[in-house]
Amino acid sequence: MIEILVGSQMGAAEYVAEQVAETLVQAGYETKLHLQPDLDQLNPTHIWLVITSTYGAGDLPDNIQPFADQLAQDRRDLNTLSFAVITLGDSSYDTFCQAGKTLLRLLQQRGAKPLLFTLEIDVLTAELPEENALSWLPEFIQQLKKSE
Ligand SMILES: Cc1cc2nc3c(=O)[nH]c(=O)nc-3n(C[C@H](O)[C@H](O)[C@H](O)COP(=O)(O)O)c2cc1C
Repeated sequence: MIEILVGSQMGAAEYVAEQVAETLVQAGYETKLHLQPDLDQLNPTHIWLVITSTYGAGDLPDNIQPFADQLAQDRRDLNTLSFAVITLGDSSYDTFCQAGKTLLRLLQQRGAKPLLFTLEIDVLTAELPEENALSWLPEFIQQLKKSE
């Protein structure tokens, strides 16, 4: 089971998440989209895939900020957890893809292990951000297979 945690203010990251979920289902994986991720409802023995944009000046989208607060305040150990991050941003900001970087750090601080490198999608140059995500997925799936 792959838990897909979405951080999206205007819908672009959510659309990418839907496309990614569809492709993972076609590849035979069960997925669950979390549009209001809640640490208490996520199973750390599953794989988590975080897909988030960045807002403000490096801020997290409103819908995923409470999850980041939970992670920052919580003491639980997530060392059984493997995860990956896809992050959308605009490289004209100094805080390019900062929300993805913040969530990566918070998860690592709880002991979780990234399965592979974070995919940073620059919406300034990526005409169809979902295409970038779908090109990255085979590597993600390869790492999933290795970790099974
Ligand atoms: C008001 C505003 C602030 C933004 N701030 C950042 C930022 O600090 N860093 C970044 O990389 N992208 C920033 N972006 C770009 C968004 O992350 C990008 O447009 C993304 O595709 C939006 O995805 P969403 O529709 O899922 O929220 C900003 C966009 C807006 C409209």
